[in-house]
Amino acid sequence: MTPVHLADSVLAQEGQIPLPYRTIIEPFKIHSTQAIDFPTPDQREAALQRAGYNLFGLHAEEVIIDLLTDSGTGAMSAKQWAGMMVGDESYAGSRSFYRFETAVKDLTGFDEIIPTHQGRAAERILFSVTVKAGDVVPNNTHFDTTRANVEYQEAEARDLVIPGGTDPAHVLPFKGNMDVAALRATIEAVGRERIPMVMVTVTNNSGGGQPVSMENLREVRAICDEYGIPLILDACRFAENAWFIKLREPGYADKTPKEIAREMFSLADGCTMSAKKDGLANIGGFVALNDPEVAAACRNLLILTEGFPTYGGLAGYDLEAIAQGLEEVLHEEYLRYRIRSTEYLAEKVLGAGVPIVRPPGGHAVYLDAKAFLPHIPPHEYPAQSLAVELYREGGVRGVEIGTVMFGRARAGQPDEAAAMELVRLAIPRRTYTQSHIDFVGEVVIAVAARSESLRGYRIVEQAPWLRHFTARFEPIT
Ligand SMILES: Cc1ncc(COP(=O)(O)O)c(C=O)c1O
Repeated sequence: MTPVHLADSVLAQEGQIPLPYRTIIEPFKIHSTQAIDFPTPDQREAALQRAGYNLFGLHAEEVIIDLLTDSGTGAMSAKQWAGMMVGDESYAGSRSFYRFETAVKDLTGFDEIIPTHQGRAAERILFSVTVKAGDVVPNNTHFDTTRANVEYQEAEARDLVIPGGTDPAHVLPFKGNMDVAALRATIEAVGRERIPMVMVTVTNNSGGGQPVSMENLREVRAICDEYGIPLILDACRFAENAWFIKLREPGYADKTPKEIAREMFSLADGCTMSAKKDGLANIGGFVALNDPEVAAACRNLLILTEGFPTYGGLAGYDLEAIAQGLEEVLHEEYLRYRIRSTEYLAEKVLGAGVPIVRPPGGHAVYLDAKAFLPHIPPHEYPAQSLAVELYREGGVRGVEIGTVMFGRARAGQPDEAAAMELVRLAIPRRTYTQSHIDFVGEVVIAVAARSESLRGYRIVEQAPWLRHFTARFEPIT
């Protein structure tokens, strides 16, 4: 396997590394710590059985390195904690809301800013107002909650990522791009009136944390303009996407991440956001829009389910943390370290011949279970088997992104398989150090060495949607 040095080489070429050394260090020092527990192999086995082999069912203290998600699991800065101390908890018109609103407007340029308790609440509110039964929502790739919220409106969530976007071994700089020809064909076939919005997810989480180029956003914008369809960004990882544009897209090397992010937002009519990712906060989200009528309808629903429009289900101190986080996430030193640390894990496992989605994404390394475990068919959940084994081996918790998450259960038949069988090792922001990541690499390599001994699973209990959160499994012997 060839190690991927994409970001590294681009940085070196352009002379952007501020210190003349190869190691890119964490741009922070640790101010307070949380102890890691070390469950024994027997304790891990017992935990797996209790949880029905679903890693969502583990207690955090049963996990050694938790790479389940990068969502809400990052460490906040001293400035964010300081902001929390001055959070204004007024029910209406809180000072913290206005600080938050100013930060979001300054970043996105959108006029209407609606706080929500997290990303999926933003999705539910926006889709309840704009999507109706029988509609089709195109996206490069819907994330699980986005798909579920579209389907909850009895509409179709259609994934239109470029060809190659679902081939883990295919190396492209902007593998999250939307297939614009397929988008046009979809609009022509379905009819403009049944397409309430086009969404683009930056970065493309379910497709490997892959970025979307500015050029692609411009092309999608042009098609949306032609048909009069709003373009909405799923902006969870806008800063990581902006950094990839800086590294990889001609014409952007000298722009700041903030300038690039603003340009990305300027091409859209609105966004949904989970501030638990590139908001660097532990909770929160928002819908931001230009259309005042849609925003008014969203606020009405917000009052019904989340809270008054100046807090949207959040405490004043959460709004402070998000406002500060949105600024910090665009610091170049942070983004350089962030993207490099993901790439570092990728290089480690690739170097040992472990198949992963290439090039590595922004927030996570995605192990390719289909290539890793060719002897386990999709309906026996190879990525679930691999995820369970990483936990069994070294207490490392990742998440299945494959047929459990995206396949469809069919009565009396094996599940319809997902496009890819991945285990995502998502790296919480500013939380783990290089030695933690070295440890994860060793665990992955140890499991790889005995991959032929891994067996599939069957589902014995599942919910009608988002089944991966609560399903229970049994090993197939
Ligand atoms: C691309 C994407 N969209 C939406 C969401 C939903 O956000 P939340 O978990 O805050 O509801 C996520 C969360 O992982 C995501 O990755």
